[in-house]
Amino acid sequence: MDDPLNILFDEQAIEQKVSELAGQISHDYAGKELVLVCILKGAAIFAADLSRHLTIPVGLDFVHVSSYGSATVSSRTITVKKDIDMDIRGKNVLLVDGIIDTGDTMQYLLEQYRKRGPASIKVAVLLDKHSRRTADVRLDYRGFEIPDEFVVGYGMDCGEKYRNLPYIATLKNTE
Ligand code: IMP
Ligand code: MG
Repeated sequence: MDDPLNILFDEQAIEQKVSELAGQISHDYAGKELVLVCILKGAAIFAADLSRHLTIPVGLDFVHVSSYGSATVSSRTITVKKDIDMDIRGKNVLLVDGIIDTGDTMQYLLEQYRKRGPASIKVAVLLDKHSRRTADVRLDYRGFEIPDEFVVGYGMDCGEKYRNLPYIATLKNTE
């Protein structure tokens, strides 16, 4: 049987991109304190790697948002299952996600967190499925632009599978 996974970015390409993004972020926030908000679950691996490449002091927090069902079809209902613990008032916040698709999730979180009075709030994503964007979200740090295909690995799942793959692949057959 054919392997349904088609590698899009291997470990080396990801590592290079993450380190490049971390370099930009460390430069931009030099002398400032930063809070990375990891959008669970998909951003877990990216945020972990990104944070370890940063040369500035960072706080880490986690928000668990659900915007997709178990498969590739979007439910378009955004639910915060677990919010961040930190008070972000006066803090520099960087929202981190593995992939941005329509942008609804990011737009929703930006709206919610802006109300809490952060000093600044920016967005970092590893993958940008640009052609699918409906929400007007500015990407301050972006890894790769990808075509409209369902991807898995490096934190991203299909029905909770494949998150642990060290590479990013497209799913040829999603059933
Ligand atoms: P958005 O709200 O449409 O931008 O969707 C963002 C969320 O959808 C991401 O945080 C992912 O959890 C999920 N998602 C979107 N596209 C993919 C994909 O190709 N593979 C895996 N998850 C995806
Ligand atoms: Mg998912």
